[in-house]
Amino acid sequence: MSKGSEPRKADFVVVANRLPVDLERMEDGTQRWKHSPGGLVTALEPFLRARQGAWVGWPGVADVEVNPFADGDMWLHPVRLSSSEFQEYYEGFSNATLWPLYHDVVVPPVFDRSWWNSYQRVNQRFAEAAAEVSAEGATVWIQDYQLQLVPAMLRELRPDLRIGFFLHIPFPPVELFMQLPWRTEIVRGLLGADLVGFHRPGGAQNFMWLARRLAGFEPSRAQVGVRSRPGVVQVGDRVVRVGAFPISIDSGELDQLARTREVQQRAKAIRSELGNPRRIMLGVDRLDYTKGIDVRLNAMYELLSEGHATVEDVAMIQVATPSRERVEHYKQMREDIERKVGSINGEFGRVGHPAVHYLHTSVDRKDLIAFYCAADVMIVTPVRDGMNLVCKEYVASRGDLGGSLVLSEFAGAAAELTSALLVNPHDLDGVKDSMLAALNIDQAEGRRRMRALRRQVLTHDVDRWARSFLEALGASPTE
Ligand code: ADP
Ligand code: F6P
Repeated sequence: MSKGSEPRKADFVVVANRLPVDLERMEDGTQRWKHSPGGLVTALEPFLRARQGAWVGWPGVADVEVNPFADGDMWLHPVRLSSSEFQEYYEGFSNATLWPLYHDVVVPPVFDRSWWNSYQRVNQRFAEAAAEVSAEGATVWIQDYQLQLVPAMLRELRPDLRIGFFLHIPFPPVELFMQLPWRTEIVRGLLGADLVGFHRPGGAQNFMWLARRLAGFEPSRAQVGVRSRPGVVQVGDRVVRVGAFPISIDSGELDQLARTREVQQRAKAIRSELGNPRRIMLGVDRLDYTKGIDVRLNAMYELLSEGHATVEDVAMIQVATPSRERVEHYKQMREDIERKVGSINGEFGRVGHPAVHYLHTSVDRKDLIAFYCAADVMIVTPVRDGMNLVCKEYVASRGDLGGSLVLSEFAGAAAELTSALLVNPHDLDGVKDSMLAALNIDQAEGRRRMRALRRQVLTHDVDRWARSFLEALGASPTE
C-alpha cells in the first residue's frame, strides 16, 4: 500500500460501509491493515482492482483519521466514524435495527430515534465523500443496507453521476418492512439511484410495491427476471430500474488455487491432524445468529446420541469469524454456541477426538480452501441469508468432484444450487437426515451432484454478476 499519494478522482467508485481492508491496532501501539470480513468484500475487491477504481469506506476502527491512499491499483478513500457513530449508526441502526428486520425478524429489531439520526448523518458523510472522489459523469456503485440513504443524498450533490445501488442482504417481505418507522425515507433514499439491485426477483418486486405504497410512484407490472427484464419505477422525469442480480465469487481463481500442490497438501495434513476420520464435516461462517450454526450443532448432537455417528468416524469442524462482538444478540449467540460446543464435546468427546473442532477465528484464504478440499460434507444452514458465498466457494474448490453440500432453502444460493441437499433449517429431523445422507452418499451420486453444482458456479462468477449489474446501469465495462 502506498501512502501520501495525491488524492485522485475516479470514473468508477464503490461506496461501502467498510473498506476492503481494516485497520488493526496492535498491543505494542503499531497498526497494520488486514482483510475485512464478509461476502461483500470477497465479491467486489477483485473486480474493483481490475478496474482501477476508488473505494469509499470506513477503515474499521472508530475515531481514526486516515488520509486517502493507493492499495495497488485501487484508490482507498477512508470515511471517519466517531465512537458514538460506531455505536449508533453501525452497531445500532445497521446491525440491531436493519439487520434483524431484513432477516425475517429472527431476533426483534430495536427502533431507536437517536440511532436513526446517526444513520442519516453518517449516510450524508458517505455521500459527501463519494461526491468528492468521483470524476465528472462517473459511475458510483453504492453497497448494502448501511448506506440506503446515500443514493438520494449523492444525487442531490452530484446530479451528473450515474448511481447504482446493490443490497447484499435479503430485502424483507413488505409486512416486515412496514414495521420500520423510517420506511418512507429508506424507500426514497434508494430511489435516488438509477438502478437498485437485489439478489432475488422477490426482493425487487417487494421494493417496487413499497415504492408505490410509500412514495406514490407507479412501478411497472411485469415480473422481474434474473439478470433480465428489470422493473421500472417512474420518479418524476427519471426512470429508476429495479432488478435481480445474484452475486457470486471469483470461481475460476478458487478452482485454480484448490488444485495447487500447496493447498492439496494442506488438506491432507488437516485430515491427518484429525486422525484420518472416515468423514469430515465443515461449517464456515461469520459468527452471526442468522447463519444457523446452532441448527447443525443440534443435528450433530442427535446424530451422535442416536449412534448414527461416532467421534472417531466423523470429525466436525466449525470455523467462525468473530463479528459485531458488542451487539447484544451476537454476544448472547456466541455464549450459546460455545456452551453447546462445550456440552457436545463433554458428552461425546474422547481424548484426541473432540466431537466438534471449534475455531473462533478468521483463517487465511489458502487455509480456508484447504478446509474446503478436506471436507466431505459442507454444512450451510442459515435461517435467512441474502446469498451465502461460502457454499459457492466450497463448490468451486471441488474440482475433484468430491464432497457433498447440505444447503438451507433460505439462502439465496439455494435458487441456483438446486443439486445440493436442500434443507429447511427449522426442521431438525430434515437437517439430520440430510447430514446423514451426505455422510453416506453413494460416490457416483455425489459426483453427479457436484458436477451440476460446479457447472452453475463456474459459469456464474462474480465478474458476470458485476457486468450484468453495470450493463443494466448503462455503465458496462465493455462500453
Ligand atoms: P456474509 O457476507 O454474511 O459474511 P457470505 O457467506 O456471503 O456471508 O460471505 C462470507 C465470506 O467471508 C466468504 O468469502 C467466506 O470465505 C469468508 N469467511 C467466512 N468465515 C470465514 C473465516 N472463519 N475465515 C476466513 N474467511 C471467512
Ligand atoms: O454482506 C453482508 C455484510 O453485512 C456486509 O455489508 C459486510 O461487509 C459483511 O457482511 C461483514 O459485516 P460487518 O462489516 O458488519 O463486519
